Amino acid sequence: MRHRSLRTARQRIIGGLSVGLLATLGLAVPAAAHAPRTTEATAPASAPASASKAASGEGSALTPPMGFNNWNSTHCRAEFNEAMVEGIADIFVAKGLKDAGYQYVNLDDCWALPQRDADGKLVPDPARFPNGIKAVADYVHSKGLKLGIYTSAGTKTCDRAGFPGALGHERSDAQQFADWGIDYLKYDNCNNQGVDAKQRYPAMRDALKAASETTGRPIVYSICEWGQNKPWEWAADVGHLWRTTGDISDSWGSMLSIAKQNLPLAPYARPGHWNDPDMLEVGNGGMTDTEYRSHFSLWSVMAAPLLIGTDLRKATPETYQILGNREVIAVDQDPLGKQGSVVSSEGGRWVIAKQLADGSRAVALFNETDRARHIATTAAAVGLDHAPAYRLRDLWRHQDYNTAGAVTATVPAHGTVLYRISPDRRWASYPPAVELGGEGASLTEAGATAQVDTVLTDLGRTPARRVAVRLTGPEGWRIRAVSPTRAGSLPTGKKLTTRWRITAPADAEPGAYDLTAGADYRSPSGAKATARLVSTVHVVVPPPSGTSYASDLPWLSALNGWGPVEKDTSVGESAAGDGHPITLGGTVHARGLGVHAPSEVTYYTGGRCTAFTARVGVDDEEGAAGTVAFEVWADDTKVASTEALTNTDAAKAVTAAIAGAKTVRLVVTDGGDGVTSDHGDWADAAFRC
Ligand code: GLA
Repeated sequence: MRHRSLRTARQRIIGGLSVGLLATLGLAVPAAAHAPRTTEATAPASAPASASKAASGEGSALTPPMGFNNWNSTHCRAEFNEAMVEGIADIFVAKGLKDAGYQYVNLDDCWALPQRDADGKLVPDPARFPNGIKAVADYVHSKGLKLGIYTSAGTKTCDRAGFPGALGHERSDAQQFADWGIDYLKYDNCNNQGVDAKQRYPAMRDALKAASETTGRPIVYSICEWGQNKPWEWAADVGHLWRTTGDISDSWGSMLSIAKQNLPLAPYARPGHWNDPDMLEVGNGGMTDTEYRSHFSLWSVMAAPLLIGTDLRKATPETYQILGNREVIAVDQDPLGKQGSVVSSEGGRWVIAKQLADGSRAVALFNETDRARHIATTAAAVGLDHAPAYRLRDLWRHQDYNTAGAVTATVPAHGTVLYRISPDRRWASYPPAVELGGEGASLTEAGATAQVDTVLTDLGRTPARRVAVRLTGPEGWRIRAVSPTRAGSLPTGKKLTTRWRITAPADAEPGAYDLTAGADYRSPSGAKATARLVSTVHVVVPPPSGTSYASDLPWLSALNGWGPVEKDTSVGESAAGDGHPITLGGTVHARGLGVHAPSEVTYYTGGRCTAFTARVGVDDEEGAAGTVAFEVWADDTKVASTEALTNTDAAKAVTAAIAGAKTVRLVVTDGGDGVTSDHGDWADAAFRC
């Protein structure tokens, strides 16, 4: 199905401000922009303790399924064919992914012909699978791997072409799958004719069970009804995993919103029964590698199925490094089978802890925000008994440290630090953990001098010795320490704060620049250790004096629910430049911004502007479904807002006093009714400076 779920397109800064990462903006993110502390759902009292009746594969999927599915990379394009599927199986073996645990090679929609044959049997598309599905299964099995297939619990599948669904054909289709040697079925929800999911999904469970008894090959059963009927409440006896949300797409906003929907369902996951927040997008190009590491870390602490969704034949070394990180995979595949739960999430600083079979905890420190953040918890808060010290292993850096109990990091924008913390008698043999953080300017004008502090904190039970901190920037930047950069010994909890003055070259182009803080230190035994933090400084240009249209000024960042933010047109929804003239209540406005909720467009005003004005509303191009509310923020203060507006409302005049503000954020929320047709217009938007 084509879900109109939240799909936030991150845009690159324009007007000469290009950024690789939408990284450390010097913008405080209001608490309201982030989820409140997630309250966990409570597990049903009647939850069965074992996977007694689940499909045919009793005792299957005791850890979350791992493998590949073509959908996220190919959809129905012709490249989804036998050569691709067998190529992926080859790569699983050749690149060590099979050894790392990836096992299922799964076909998604579009493998069949639109019509059944005269006997009512499914027919593989001969253009894609000229040798049939059994031949593919034989090939995949010959590599020691397993084959999955897809159909819908409806009359047709989800693709527009409408391939046959299994509603009313459960027995025959299941038998065909079993005869082909299928090991896994993803069972979708499209064209379900309104038949209750609690009938449709058990019908296929029973059919799979009967069919697999004739072949002796268990079939993992993946329920894909997008969380619409709360399958976590009733499907433990039905399937091994159930989708909890609409479809993921290859964007930061989609991944984030899906993670937030799946996290509270932790109590329902256990061996043989998993919450499924949809397949991985790692490697598909719509997120940065930092964001893909967060995606992979989050899916692993959530004990989610790890189904690779990128065409591995074209994947980069970084993609292989992420998908092949065995220490992270071990968190996902831990035999205790617990899904991690949220310890705290204030202000977009997430702490998620997962209990592991050996008594240790995986702890994800996940930074939802657009700038580096200090995120902190403790060994006690994640459930470990009191001990003088613990072993703290960084699962992305593959390093061990000792900690006296603090589990903290300054985490880059959109990044995740993933630790495994455990009691360990040998803790003193590891160097002390340190946190390298920073505070201060992240916006500066060319030629101007700004001040930043680096802060190195010893988290270990042992002191950090011979500490030396440095800060480096791009070619031509002047960076000078104005307080000590060294410390002889930093005991537990003590900090070395160093003040720096940084000057961007007078001719620096506006844009984002990396500053890299590094620290060297030694453990008491003399062993060397290092820490590093990359943060971003934006070189910004102040707006000209007089009145300027927002659409004539470069923005610092722009987030948008669907498609890019448009200048001087409505939002369109998909590609840049696909909007229409901004029209509110029949009046066309030549200037303004067209956005789609949830949206946030930030401008640098440098304390030089006094007022922002606009006429706002839902564009006339949308039907009655669109509901949005507008907010103007001057730094951290909301200075103007509207109630929820629909396109039957007349355009509202917004006037905001912004004197002194360094940045101004134009926020559009969904008006509280979900993100549907929320085309917001900031007509005639202008700054007086
Ligand atoms: C639905 C599912 C997706 C994918 C497509 C195929 O949207 O949720 O995961 O299988 O159908 O058409």
